Amino acid sequence: MSDRLGIGVLGLHEGHTLLIGLRASGLCRAVAGCDLSSAKRAQALESTPELFVTESYEEMLGRHDVRIVAIYTPDAHHAAHIEQAFLAGKDVICTKPLVNDLSVANRLKELAVQTGRRLQVGQSTRFGEPFQRQREHFEEGRLGELEVVDAHYNHRMDWLYEKSPWSISETHWAYLGLSHPIDLVTWYLGPIREVHAFGTITALGTRYRLETPDAITVNLMGESGRIGRVLGNYGFHELPKARSLIECQLMGSKGTSIARYPELRFTYTDGVKEQDEDYEHSMTGYYSRHELKGMHYGEFCNYADYFASKLLSGEPNSPDLTEGLETVAVMDAVVRSLQEGRSVSI
Ligand SMILES: NC(=O)c1ccc[n+]([C@@H]2O[C@H](COP(=O)([O-])OP(=O)(O)OC[C@H]3O[C@@H](n4cnc5c(N)ncnc54)[C@H](O)[C@@H]3O)[C@@H](O)[C@H]2O)c1
Repeated sequence: MSDRLGIGVLGLHEGHTLLIGLRASGLCRAVAGCDLSSAKRAQALESTPELFVTESYEEMLGRHDVRIVAIYTPDAHHAAHIEQAFLAGKDVICTKPLVNDLSVANRLKELAVQTGRRLQVGQSTRFGEPFQRQREHFEEGRLGELEVVDAHYNHRMDWLYEKSPWSISETHWAYLGLSHPIDLVTWYLGPIREVHAFGTITALGTRYRLETPDAITVNLMGESGRIGRVLGNYGFHELPKARSLIECQLMGSKGTSIARYPELRFTYTDGVKEQDEDYEHSMTGYYSRHELKGMHYGEFCNYADYFASKLLSGEPNSPDLTEGLETVAVMDAVVRSLQEGRSVSI
């Protein structure tokens, strides 16, 4: 057990998911947790009695058993918390969005070089079963030449505004929500040349006094000439059963595939008929934990173990700091396009 890499978790709301998720880990173990809220620290101790908990980030960073720091604080704090962790000699997992301000990019890249530390973006959707299966098919060339990518993340968010008021005023949906589908599109298209975004504030967004759009659609053009499309609506009434919160559809010269979250379904055409891989029954215990009926346990454990394996082998990881910041540059371009009302270059 003590051979496993020790993880210190900062921010124990979504970070609590990682504490539970790591129970299934083969390479990591949760050793410490930090939150300003005594209630969050108490909850963490209840689920994970062996955990060291503190309200002081400095104290957690000073611990020798913390090899990796996993950051789950509000979006606007990620950059400062990554910087502190690098300077304390820790490798970092940072939840999505990596940062919500592109002006910090050079400083973070310099610090990574100066300290020799590495970072994994906790890009949960990529690490879910259907999206991993879809990637395998893509890498095996089963779709032929990939030509068009269409991804969305639609989720009614009044519960989030009530729980986390920072989500109303301290970030932008181009980062907070669109980070999922924009990451999926850039994963497949590679570097993006140009984006054109349109946005609107929904009735639900108006009710919560949002000042920037909570429904955004984006067209993307890759350097390769291939195209993509992204939609995020965080104010709609309800989602029809036929559609999933997150979907990624790949359209290639020889086939099409679609990965869905949270249904854990992967569907593809093989030239003859449609095939459906349904992981709902076999993997709910891992991804949602039957007893907890929660979300993200499996994806968080997957990316922690993946990062640990890359740290141990010395191989590169993805998305790392550079790739993560390139995706942030796309989100930054979405915000500029919304403000300027025209298509913009990255
Ligand atoms: N799919 C995913 O990967 C996923 C899902 C949900 C949230 N997130 C991300 O996780 C982050 C947190 O979201 P959340 O819903 O848990 O927010 P939240 O507001 O519920 O929780 C944030 C926690 O951070 C703590 N905190 C803030 N500043 C701190 C500091 N300086 N030191 C210690 N603790 C501090 C707060 O007390 C709070 O408990 C966000 O960036 C969000 O985008 C990712």
